[in-house]
Amino acid sequence: MKSTPTRALFPGSFDPFTLGHLEIVRQALAFVDQVVVAIAVNTAKKPLLSGEERQVAATQTLQAVGLGDRVEVVQISGLLADFCVANHIDVIVKGLRNAADFTYEAPMATVNQDLGGPGTVFIPSSPQWAHISSSLVKELARYGANITQMVEDKTAQMLYRALGTSPGAAPDLAQTGQQERK
Ligand code: COA
Repeated sequence: MKSTPTRALFPGSFDPFTLGHLEIVRQALAFVDQVVVAIAVNTAKKPLLSGEERQVAATQTLQAVGLGDRVEVVQISGLLADFCVANHIDVIVKGLRNAADFTYEAPMATVNQDLGGPGTVFIPSSPQWAHISSSLVKELARYGANITQMVEDKTAQMLYRALGTSPGAAPDLAQTGQQERK
């Protein structure tokens, strides 16, 4: 008898989806069959990219590493808990980069359960990604710095376009430092 696939919801504003987020999806796929990446609304934030653009960026990132089959990317506008109930989600997953993330996420996990949603499993980020945030990536892109260590190439191009900048626009800090020291 084939059992129903287990499904995790990975919510966030994903403005943009980074390689740190990708690592959380990979880890989640070790214990669920499918992950639904939900581009949700954080009312405290004003996104740079449209919901559509964020969906495209996340989808392209997942496809680039061959995870397109087990991961779906959706946009949601309501409560996470309601989406989970309507879409047979077994668990919510969230990445934790540090203790501050836990302090922020723990009450949300409780509220989501109080609203009838599933429990949340916290997944620690590896140290490689623990310093990354979507805002940090945007800040670097704004100055034309190389962000391809943090986001997939097409996402990087999308950000440069949205910000009206281009890679290489930033001064090469290593070079500048050398010249100043001469
Ligand atoms: N790698 C890289 N970056 C990471 C990361 C990781 N593993 N984990 C977290 N981050 C970054 C995110 O990019 C984000 O960066 P930013 O602040 O620069 O945008 C930051 O850490 C915070 O991430 P997160 O805590 O997931 O917040 P969010 O704004 O991305 O998502 C929602 C919050 C959308 C999930 C939340 O507002 C929500 O659930 N909204 C739906 C409505 C609802 O149900 N509300 C009730 C919930 S209690």
